[in-house]
Parts: sequence; C-alpha cells; structure tokens
Amino acid sequence: MSSSSVNLEEIPSESLMNELLRRMKCASKPENCLILIGPPGSGKGTQSLVIKDEYCLCHLATGDMLRAAVSAKTPLGIKAKEAVDKGELVSDDLVVGIIDEAMKKPSCHKGFIPDGFPRTVVQAQKLDEMLDRQGVKIDKVLYFEIDDSILEERITGRWIHPASGRSYHTEFAPPKIPGVDDVTGESLIQRKDDTAAVLRSRLEAFHKQTESVINYYSKKGLVTKLNAEKSPKDVTDDIRKVLS
Ligand code: AP5
Repeated sequence: MSSSSVNLEEIPSESLMNELLRRMKCASKPENCLILIGPPGSGKGTQSLVIKDEYCLCHLATGDMLRAAVSAKTPLGIKAKEAVDKGELVSDDLVVGIIDEAMKKPSCHKGFIPDGFPRTVVQAQKLDEMLDRQGVKIDKVLYFEIDDSILEERITGRWIHPASGRSYHTEFAPPKIPGVDDVTGESLIQRKDDTAAVLRSRLEAFHKQTESVINYYSKKGLVTKLNAEKSPKDVTDDIRKVLS
C-alpha cells in the first residue's frame, strides 16, 4: 500500500456508512460551480459551509489553504506568509496552482465553490482555462454586497475552528461554550489578519483588484447580487432561492 492510500479497515463503520449515504444522495445532484465574491467578513465562508453540504460541492477556500500552508511552513506557505500577514494578495501563479491541484480531489467531482478565488482578472481567466479543460461551466457568481462600515465589527469579533473552517462571532454567531468549537470541542482561534489595521489593507486590495472580477463576470451575465447585511439565515434563504 502506498503511503498516501487509506486503509479502509481502520475507518469506523459509522463514518464509512455516512460517507456512502452522502455519495448516494449526491449522485442525483447536478454538477455546479458557484463562485463567491465579497469583501473580507461579508459571510462567504459562513455560507459556503451550509451550501456545500446541501449541493454536494467541495469548498475551496484559498485563504484557508494558504493559512494552513503558512502554519505548516511548507515551501508555498513560506512564500505566501508575508502577503497573508499584511492582508495583501499573494501572487496569481501561487494561488492558481493551489486551486488547480485542489479541484482534482474526489470530493470535488460534483463541482466546487471557490471562496476567495478568483481575486484578480488574471485568476478569473486562468480559472476559465482550467474549467474549459474539465468541460465544466460556471453556474453563478454570488456577489456578497455589504457596506465597508459593517465589516470591522464582524472581523474583529470572529473566532474560527481552523480544521473545519467553521467560523463564529462573539455577538452574531456565538459558540455554545466561549472559545470552543461546537462540533469537535476543540479550541477556537482568532486569525492573525483579523485586526482593524490589516482589515484596511484587505479592503483596499478588494476594491483595487477584486471589484474588476465582478465586472468580468457581469459581462458574462453570471453575477447575482446578495444583500450580505442581512442575518446569516436570511442570506442562506436568499442563496437557496437563487439556486433553486
Ligand atoms: P481569505 O481567507 O479569503 O479572507 P477574506 O476574503 O478576507 O474573507 P474572510 O474569510 O475574512 O471573510 P468571509 O467573507 O469568509 O467572512 P465569514 O463568513 O467568516 O483571505 C485571506 C488572505 O489570503 C488574503 O488577504 C490574501 O493575502 C490571501 N489570499 C486568499 N485568496 C487569495 C487569492 N485568490 N489571491 C491572492 N491572495 C489570496 O464572516 C465573518 C464574521 O462575520 C464571522 O465571525 C461570522 O460569524 C460573521 N457573520 C457572517 N455572516 C454574518 C451575517 N450575515 N450577519 C452577522 N454576522 C455574520
């Protein structure tokens, strides 16, 4: 057995059964590629985790992947660290490589939700090329529209569970026990770039580099605007309406 293969005998029956049931449910779902675009703190991560399960899509959050690489000090993480810490964008080549690799995972066979990608027009063009090669089309681009003034409170109150990507908020989405993930009981952390000062650079990068991506997809007739100032539940309901 190669070092990367999994010994199924080691996996508990309940987990195997749940995975089997998930695959059976997903077999009848159409293939989808949904792109989520919005400024930091607009709720992309929060909503991705809900819709990925409902629509059997894999969630490809470039920010989460970069932070994991930085904390594991991989060669990619070492290259990305400075930009991530400062709230600037890392190079297009680096991020495109991560997404290209991640899209090949078996969990992505029914489609994917790139979250935080593409963030530049070059990344959008590269994504088009990757999808063309796979014969997959972008179904919708969901634009999380929100006023900048709301974001500082959301970002500075956020706590995350790094392993799953679940995010909480001290006021808007508190965990059952402060500082503890509801599902695993593991500790929550605050992201290093979740400060008011770094948020300013992240917002600047959004307005300067990512808003043009919204125009890129608008010209293709793919963009649906969501009012991301509503409650998380109301935003989920609006997404369901758009996707139904
Ligand atoms: P990334 O991790 O993608 O961060 P981001 O885009 O800044 O987005 P966030 O994760 O901060 O916000 P979110 O919209 O997911 O908000 P959430 O749902 O958690 O990127 C980080 C860095 O990586 C970048 O700065 C860059 O350096 C690099 N990078 C990543 N991708 C790149 C790329 N493609 N190219 C180049 N560089 C790249 O919600 C926030 C908080 O609000 C939570 O606490 C949540 O509980 C709460 N909340 C959510 N929804 C609501 C609601 N409706 N009402 C009230 N509270 C809410």
